[in-house]
Amino acid sequence: MEERKWPGPPGMIPEPDRNAADANLHNRRYLDQLLVEMNVIDAVEADLTMHLFGKTFASPIMMPAFSHLNKVGISGRTPMQEYAEAAKEMNLVNWVGMEPDEEYESIASIGAETVRIIKPFADHEKIISEIRFAKEHGALAVGVDIDHVFGKNGKYDIVDGIPLGPVMSEDLKAYVKEAGDTPFIAKGVLSVSDAMKCEEAGCAGIFISHHHGRLPFGIPPAIALQEIRKAMPATRMCLFADCGIDNGYDAFKLLALGADAVSVGRGILPGLLKEGKEGVIKKVTRMNEELKELMGYTGASSLEEMNAAVLLDSSTYLR
Ligand SMILES: Cc1cc2nc3c(=O)[nH]c(=O)nc-3n(C[C@H](O)[C@H](O)[C@H](O)COP(=O)(O)O)c2cc1C
Repeated sequence: MEERKWPGPPGMIPEPDRNAADANLHNRRYLDQLLVEMNVIDAVEADLTMHLFGKTFASPIMMPAFSHLNKVGISGRTPMQEYAEAAKEMNLVNWVGMEPDEEYESIASIGAETVRIIKPFADHEKIISEIRFAKEHGALAVGVDIDHVFGKNGKYDIVDGIPLGPVMSEDLKAYVKEAGDTPFIAKGVLSVSDAMKCEEAGCAGIFISHHHGRLPFGIPPAIALQEIRKAMPATRMCLFADCGIDNGYDAFKLLALGADAVSVGRGILPGLLKEGKEGVIKKVTRMNEELKELMGYTGASSLEEMNAAVLLDSSTYLR
């Protein structure tokens, strides 16, 4: 039988291989069925400038919080360093996932504005120590990926031999306190209830995400985002979102639904692994163009002018 090749974006599973519990599948379907209306009269070219935590960036499309990409790439730098270089050159927010201090330092020293995401280690002193290290190395923000508590066996996960543990509201408060003036972000929020606990703990932001499908049957982050915006209209937290964002149109939809910024995820991997920094720059440049295109056609000349009224959920065709 002829081998079946799947041309779709990351997250889209070929029909024969699909697993209904895979949150990536439902996420892709949801994003793809959102349609866009046009408001072109009086529309002008869009400006993608984003302001975050007192800094100005060229686009609301950010790098992903990746980890474990330690292979040395074409230029002698690791893929983590390569995408940090791309972030620096393009003036984008850079995110870094689980990395030992010395690797985090080598990435931070590239000079991109970087957010360090730390695993929910069972050893809370390790989290506190990594928060301090990130602060000492000028992190734009720090955070914990609170959605990585359990493994596939239902027990607390173990990553690289290091045990992870539960995240209690009191723990979040302690991390926020340790972060001090540096914004603290909870990554991996997928409900109003968790969002409210994060606000109560003093988080500066939440990352609405299921971490490329960690949660079986996880709801699309785009839906959680809408519910959180509706339930918490006056929240002072920044709302970030990711999962399956592979082009500027996906980014547009999340931003229109109320995200302050979004991260591309595995969508950068092919270019990153093949061409390093240049591959990432090509990918995000094209994403920025697509985002600008839809902002232009929907009459949003800046991020502040984006809104969900231009979207139609085609699963119902109801406004
Ligand atoms: C190789 C790899 C490593 C990752 N490591 C981390 C991590 O250490 N911490 C974290 O919060 N998220 C991590 N993520 C999840 C991403 O930050 C992001 O939430 C996810 O990839 C988004 O989904 P997408 O790839 O479908 O766009 C990782 C993802 C990948 C692919």
